[in-house]
Amino acid sequence: MKIKYFLWLLLPLILACSNQEDDSEYVNVPIDVAVPSNFPAMAYDIALNPPTQKGFELGKKLFYDGRLSSDGLVSCAFCHVQEYAFTHHGHTVSHGVDNQSGTRNAPSIQNLAYQKAFMWDGATTHLDLQPVIPLTSPIEMNGDLNQIVAMMNGDVSYRTLYKQAFRDGAINSENMLKALAQFMVAITSSNSKFDKYRRNEPGGTLTPQELAGYSLFTAKCSACHATDLMTDDSFRNNGLAINPLVNDVGRYRVTLQPADLYKFKVPSLRNVEKSAPYMHDGRFGTLETVLNHYASGVTDSATLDPVLKQGGAIGIPLTANEKQQLIAFLKTLTDNQFLTDTRFSEF
Ligand code: HEC
Ligand code: HEC
Repeated sequence: MKIKYFLWLLLPLILACSNQEDDSEYVNVPIDVAVPSNFPAMAYDIALNPPTQKGFELGKKLFYDGRLSSDGLVSCAFCHVQEYAFTHHGHTVSHGVDNQSGTRNAPSIQNLAYQKAFMWDGATTHLDLQPVIPLTSPIEMNGDLNQIVAMMNGDVSYRTLYKQAFRDGAINSENMLKALAQFMVAITSSNSKFDKYRRNEPGGTLTPQELAGYSLFTAKCSACHATDLMTDDSFRNNGLAINPLVNDVGRYRVTLQPADLYKFKVPSLRNVEKSAPYMHDGRFGTLETVLNHYASGVTDSATLDPVLKQGGAIGIPLTANEKQQLIAFLKTLTDNQFLTDTRFSEF
């Protein structure tokens, strides 16, 4: 009699335990996304989609999975290759399914949590929604969200990962995009020689040549390539001659404001030594040609940035020696730990 009574008392507890078992596969282990001390504040609202170990793992699997595209080959990583700071090395403009060419160069994927707008023209301000563009673009992955969800439902390791990564365990595009964002938000590059110099850490001693380059950079480049992220996140026209075959109007495509014609997002210059080719259309293959552009190739137009036409002269005067110093400085932004970090690699 007494024992029976006792069991009745326990019933709610037993039920609560079995309820918990329903989502017992959910693994809520947060991953470290601390802001490096020399970085500005994060732009991404981490609280809305806190990166966890399993969410990150799922996002990485998605990032490297060619089955998200119509031909089964073109994964995100096809165009965003880690050792080149997640850019498409050797391609001026990226190539997608059926070897179709786009019109723009793949930007690096690093420190995206600190950016407010994505794509060269800022087409989206939500990192969680950004992947929809390449996933469904007919010339990039040409994927179909329903087919992708069906593919993942048929894959036992996806089924497990979704249960582990999300409390509701649902295999749907919302959770897929959240996982991709968790992976991308965690991709931080903050251990270059320059970072160590800025944080007074061992290995952070710049040579006189690099220091001279840094002061030139501060004087001549940092109006746009600002903060230790080397971008002020604005859209500007840095005087590239218009390619009449493509006539990429840049930011204008998003705002339809004539003042935004031919303006592009100021890119971060981190790992720039590895992310060739350069500019939105990959027109320059080397840092030397980039500097030659600033020194003597800047084209005037109605929207050319005022910083590039000071005192009546067009461009940024640079001697041959100054160019070498600047390049030496830019190379201190290479973060080998990030480029080879196995947390971000496929295997
Ligand atoms: C076919 C090559 C290709 C594939 C595949 C591809 N991308 Fe990209 N990615 C690009 C190009 C090109 C851009 C720049 C597009 C623009 O500015 O209009 C870009 C831009 C981005 C950006 C914006 C970065 C920034 O700094 O603004 C992110 C984030 C990104 N891609 C993530 C992804 C993810 C996630 C996937 C897979 C779901 C993916 N990409 C698949 C070529 C590709
Ligand atoms: C007026 C603002 C401005 C100034 C000043 C400026 N840049 Fe830029 N920079 C940009 C913009 C905007 C782009 C992207 C343009 C595009 O692709 O259409 C860019 C692109 C670059 C790139 C290519 C990066 C990539 O990933 O493709 C490099 C390298 C670069 N700048 C270096 C420099 C250096 C070095 C200086 C100083 C000598 C400098 N910039 C001065 C605005 C500026």
